[in-house]
Amino acid sequence: MDPTDAGPRPGPSPTETEKRQAAVAAAELVADGMTVGLGTGSTVAYLLPALAARRLDIRCVATSPRTETDATALGLRVEAFSQLDRLAVAIDGADQVDPDGWIVKGGGGAHVREKIVAAAAESFVVIVSSDKEVPRIGPPVPLELLPFGLAATLHELGCARVRPSTPPSPDGGVIADWTDPFDDPAALATYLDSVPGVVGHGLFHPGMVSTVIVGGR
Ligand code: 5RP
Repeated sequence: MDPTDAGPRPGPSPTETEKRQAAVAAAELVADGMTVGLGTGSTVAYLLPALAARRLDIRCVATSPRTETDATALGLRVEAFSQLDRLAVAIDGADQVDPDGWIVKGGGGAHVREKIVAAAAESFVVIVSSDKEVPRIGPPVPLELLPFGLAATLHELGCARVRPSTPPSPDGGVIADWTDPFDDPAALATYLDSVPGVVGHGLFHPGMVSTVIVGGR
């Protein structure tokens, strides 16, 4: 068939449009001279070109090898996180956002690096499409577990499941998910923080989050 007969191509879905809108709005918050933490995921994939297009003099750190590769290819200056002890801003996506400001991250398994970068930033900006807004956060909550003693850690956690077909984190951690429903995210976060073998989890408390930008608002 002649490709010119194929008719108009479908445009991006409303969700993709919202992701891009949120990412572009976040890119506008970055100014010359800033140090910038770059998150991971399909929403951040819209942030990188929007940021690169502004041609600012900024220094970035990446939360995953994928983000580092993509950002570098776009001309953004990405440095090892051992070189910077604080960041002006970190910008990242999320899997769930609730009205109290709790967020769940780690759908891409990068939540431990993402939390370190977010915690080091003066301002942590979360960029999401509206489908990420939930009345209350719930399972699955991503986990990163130390391979040493994995069976014992899983036994202690009880309801954690290793995520199938998911490679280890860049730091060698096993990516898993907490699967039980929970009422109190703070209590679950405290419990997960207390379990030896849990490197980190994807619960980000409201105090960590400066701004949530929902695309299209
Ligand atoms: C990766 C993450 C992502 O930010 C989160 O999963 C959202 O991803 P996406 O923007 O693709 O929906 O936490 O670990």
